[in-house]
Amino acid sequence: MELKNAVAVVTGANRGLGRHLAAQLVERGAKVYAAARRPETVDVPGTVPLRLDVTDEASIREAARIASDATLLINNAGISTGATLIGGDTDEVRREMETNFYGPLAATRAFAPVIEGNGGGAVLNVLSALSWFHPAALGSYAASKAAAWALSGATRDELAPRGIAVSALHVGYMDTDMAAGVPADQKVAAADVAAQALYGIEKGLPEILADETSRYVKESLSAAPRPNAG
Ligand SMILES: NC(=O)c1ccc[n+]([C@@H]2O[C@H](COP(=O)([O-])OP(=O)(O)OC[C@H]3O[C@@H](n4cnc5c(N)ncnc54)[C@H](OP(=O)(O)O)[C@@H]3O)[C@@H](O)[C@H]2O)c1
Repeated sequence: MELKNAVAVVTGANRGLGRHLAAQLVERGAKVYAAARRPETVDVPGTVPLRLDVTDEASIREAARIASDATLLINNAGISTGATLIGGDTDEVRREMETNFYGPLAATRAFAPVIEGNGGGAVLNVLSALSWFHPAALGSYAASKAAAWALSGATRDELAPRGIAVSALHVGYMDTDMAAGVPADQKVAAADVAAQALYGIEKGLPEILADETSRYVKESLSAAPRPNAG
């Protein structure tokens, strides 16, 4: 889709990757609703701040009512709790699934009729290399991103007849608050990832692999799984 005339809603646009996406969309001439659970924290010039908590269905419905001219939804908001699936706190596992899976699902359900009514457009889901690689230490986060990968595939098929393209962005570590504890040489620039994401939306790519890590992990999917212990 052409971004110059797009009307974008970016969730989690107050910091990190979402902030870069919102700023770059403005540079390209799009109208941008910078959605955040605390809209007063949005500081991207040229955007329209919009209250949207992805775990609060009423706020999603209200955001879809206000942004009634939307043609592009970017499901960017996400959390990483560090919970493991066996030893971790179940409430944290559920919170991660609520934010990273049910959040994009609810937003896509609310905005699909809006985008369709405006003549069609696109949805981008911000996923991870961990949609495909599932280390124990990030088990809960990886499960939520794997579920969101399935969401991307299934909604791509379901929304195509309604004129809505669905893309999935995969990346390893980026230089945002979420990966603050990761050494700098293991992270890519969020600004560069945002630029690749927008290129992918423009070209209608179903999958955008934004760094070496995501490309390597995707290629490894057909390898034999590690053997069981014992
Ligand atoms: N950083 C990485 O290494 C990395 C790698 C692969 C994928 N990702 C994914 O990239 C996306 C952006 O993350 P980031 O790296 O930019 O992290 P970040 O700097 O921690 O930003 C996360 C954003 O999500 C928002 N958010 C969290 N829960 C929300 C909710 N319930 N409703 C609305 N907004 C909510 C945050 O808003 P508040 O300010 O209100 O908390 C913030 O704007 C996420 O989906 C993440 O999983 C990140």
